[in-house]
Amino acid sequence: MAKDRTSFLCSECGAVQAQWAGRCPECGEWDVLAPFTEPAAGTDPVEARIASTDPRAPAPTARPITSIELGEVPRIASGIEEVDRVLGGGFVPGASILLGGDPGVGKSTLLMQIAGALSQSGGVVLYASSEESAAQVRLRADRLGATSQSDASERLLVLAETDLGRILAEARRVNPRILLLDSIQMTWLGSSGGGTDASRAGAGAASQLRRCATELALLAKQTGITVLIVGHVTKDGQLAGPKLLEHLVDVVLAFEGDRHHRHRILRGVKNRFGSTHEIGLFQMTGDGLESMSEHSVHFDEDERPSPGAAIVPTLAGSRCLLAEIQALSATGFLGSAKRRASGLDAARLAMLIAVLEKHGGLRLADQDVFVSVAGGLRIQEPAADLAAALAIAGVHAGRALPPATAVFGELTLSGKVRPASGADQRVSEAIRRGAHSVLVPASQVEDLPQDQAVRVHGVHRLVDALEHLIALPSSRLEGALPGQVESSGLPLEDDVAPFGASR
Ligand code: TYD
Ligand code: MG
Repeated sequence: MAKDRTSFLCSECGAVQAQWAGRCPECGEWDVLAPFTEPAAGTDPVEARIASTDPRAPAPTARPITSIELGEVPRIASGIEEVDRVLGGGFVPGASILLGGDPGVGKSTLLMQIAGALSQSGGVVLYASSEESAAQVRLRADRLGATSQSDASERLLVLAETDLGRILAEARRVNPRILLLDSIQMTWLGSSGGGTDASRAGAGAASQLRRCATELALLAKQTGITVLIVGHVTKDGQLAGPKLLEHLVDVVLAFEGDRHHRHRILRGVKNRFGSTHEIGLFQMTGDGLESMSEHSVHFDEDERPSPGAAIVPTLAGSRCLLAEIQALSATGFLGSAKRRASGLDAARLAMLIAVLEKHGGLRLADQDVFVSVAGGLRIQEPAADLAAALAIAGVHAGRALPPATAVFGELTLSGKVRPASGADQRVSEAIRRGAHSVLVPASQVEDLPQDQAVRVHGVHRLVDALEHLIALPSSRLEGALPGQVESSGLPLEDDVAPFGASR
């Protein structure tokens, strides 16, 4: 067997270096490298520990794939529909799950709601808190209704403890259906059971995190207890010690959302038992997190068209959500214009601006451009290109899409509109939510069911889509001074002037 060797681990970014340095070469942070003993290459630390616990176990032998029996993966429904959706049907016994998210996003709230729901469906739950006192945990549980059934609350056990050794021992003794740990950063593990002050002080350090996660994953595999661990996110949005923990656990979930807004999104980042396509939607209310089966964008025909906004039906797993993309442009400095994207990829935004300049005839070189997705959603699919481009073009030219219009399609560098997957699902969702017209890639119009096709406009190129932007009469331009709009040289025929007419 190969020998273990000592490497140096960055506590900020999780990168591993062969030699110590004052500054991490990966993330550039100072004084973050700490020595740790890396297991020999190719060994999964959890598997290695399991193997080492039973030296008499027969060595596995290779066999034909078809001779392997397929067992159904058993699932324990969490009792919260949106959580089960992301997990692919519920918790798998013996799985270790890492739940990451910014401070204040609602991780402890979600954890306690899961604890309440599972104990009410008959399971024993062990809630280990290393951050809050038992009384604080009780207070939150009462507030969230997790203790509303007296027989169920007997099964909800709370342990306020930072010593992971004791948490593990208690979990083995109680043998709960699920162990919830809030949070791993605040726990520590002594070198041989008993803790030293040095290891306590090292709680949250990379080597401690790794050891704690390994022990938790091991507990899960050996006992069949599902382990759900909360992990904090560092300032640049990475799960603390990302590379460190992610490969030690079976499932990584990210809980996202802006603490100033109510919407929260639970996303699968890694899932050994299912896909990572599904997302769970919640909103934070006074009574905790509420599952949302639908996102809140609705089309309203009477709403005034607003330049700088476009609605895209975007696919998230098996469902389609309507997202509003908003754009703002303002005069900046040629050569150093700002481009900021929130909820969209920044590199994609830069590309869209270039395409708008080259193939849409817009002059944006000296314009600061800001684009964001409303409601804290994050869109990664290129099908949102056309909506983002129309929002930018609209706000730049003071034009808007007609009311109740949805738009989707990928833009190529040559200014063409490429088809997007799931076109009919997108169109029917837009229509169901009240859209009157939908701009779709021209090549997909024929594939759409006939009854939908009446409201559908196919677009071949970016310029075709720009034609759908309409000029707004001065009264509709909020804040515009009289005469300002006329002087911009745009024609003002109410709702009909095509974009191209101004050029
Ligand atoms: P919390 O779960 O403590 O976040 P985290 O564990 O991720 O740090 O909750 C964060 C916020 O949620 C907190 O600022 C208060 C708010 N909140 C509600 O709005 N309603 C509730 O019922 C609860 C429990 C919290
Ligand atoms: Mg918390």
